[in-house]
Amino acid sequence: MTERQPSYEELLARESDLLAPCLAQDWPNLPVERAEGVYVYGTDGRRYMDWLSGFGACNLGHNHPEVMAAARAQMERIVHSPVGVLTPETTLRLAWELGQIAPGGADMFFFGNSGAEAVEGALKLARYVTGRRGIIAFLGGFHGRTLGAATVTTSKVRYRNGHGPFVPDVYYARFPYPYRSSAPTPEACAQEALEDIERLFEYVIAPEDVAAMLAEPIQGEGGYVIPPRQWLQELRRICDRHGILLILDEVQTGFGRTGEWFACQALGVEPDIVCLAKAIANGFPLSAVAARRELMGRWGPASHGTTYGGSPVSCAAALATLHVIREENLLENARLQGSHLLAELRRLQAESPIIGDVRGIGLMVAVEFVRPGTKHPNPEAVQRILKRALAGGLLLYPCGHWTQTIRLIPPINITQAQVEEGLAVFRQAVLAEKE
Ligand SMILES: Cc1ncc(COP(=O)(O)O)c(C=O)c1O
Repeated sequence: MTERQPSYEELLARESDLLAPCLAQDWPNLPVERAEGVYVYGTDGRRYMDWLSGFGACNLGHNHPEVMAAARAQMERIVHSPVGVLTPETTLRLAWELGQIAPGGADMFFFGNSGAEAVEGALKLARYVTGRRGIIAFLGGFHGRTLGAATVTTSKVRYRNGHGPFVPDVYYARFPYPYRSSAPTPEACAQEALEDIERLFEYVIAPEDVAAMLAEPIQGEGGYVIPPRQWLQELRRICDRHGILLILDEVQTGFGRTGEWFACQALGVEPDIVCLAKAIANGFPLSAVAARRELMGRWGPASHGTTYGGSPVSCAAALATLHVIREENLLENARLQGSHLLAELRRLQAESPIIGDVRGIGLMVAVEFVRPGTKHPNPEAVQRILKRALAGGLLLYPCGHWTQTIRLIPPINITQAQVEEGLAVFRQAVLAEKE
């Protein structure tokens, strides 16, 4: 006899029996009814403003009507079409459209399903076309959970513990973190980080054995760390000097988050290979490795592949996402609302001794918390602030090596009134720390 169907409440009570414990201890584990725009609706009957945007996957907010309509229409035609066997229009059209905006002149694409898959693909492509083995990654970086992506991930050691041995021939250099550097200026901080690379070349691996350097243009999970522009530009020059490919992971920074299509455009650098995912299809699973045709065209037939990558439904959602960003001038809105949010947070910093740093580009914004009068990370305050904000109806999520930073990444179509609404809750949650 089959068991009675459990209710949602009963399933929630059994969550730790049903879902792997590696996942199940996250924040805030909110039972949710539905979501629309910047709001999610809990089963507790409350409405929460979502300033995490599904880890940056929903840059247009939840269930954007135009994206939903495009996906629904595509579902009526064909849901699954393995590339190379069946070739739907949406997948080809998306490749063409992305070629109009992708950085570094990228005009050829390999579609996958997740950010980690894009990172795996980029690493394989770089090794394949250069015939070299070495990869240089940057400390504090986050690139995903599959084994290759976990190898280049160093934002927290718990993402690596117990999963080794990792992919060989990966080397690490510092990522410049001006707020936490002892160097006197951001330029000196960048210089120190670059010296790590020279040291690797001198002592560990010859540059002619290095296939690629892989970096997030702005570190996400690692703490919303914005490098000095000079660092990324010098990275480009070092790569050019030695025939090394520069891979930029734009999984969290892409599709308008920084007020440009991609963060590398805000920072003035052209990559050779770009990893795209998250906001590309506003919540539908899709990712891409992007590169110039002269580079990606050398990836031999059948040397890489996937069953679901470039799903016509996700591609239809992505096409609608690009259309909405363009038609609604959302890059400009991200810049506008982002600069307002930053200015207000800097005012809050003047009132709060536990705010060590406020930083951001566009609507990729974060606040780093410290013990008063020091730069000592303050994750305890972060936990209390997150809880108070949620009680006030604002969903936020932390990041940073010590979980000492709160990211503020509302949808890029947020209105000024909604920014004010969220800010008021955040202000209260932060200022309560003084009492
Ligand atoms: C910069 C970056 N790269 C890669 C990933 C992995 O993406 P996914 O979780 O879709 O595999 C993430 C996820 O947070 C990310 O932020």
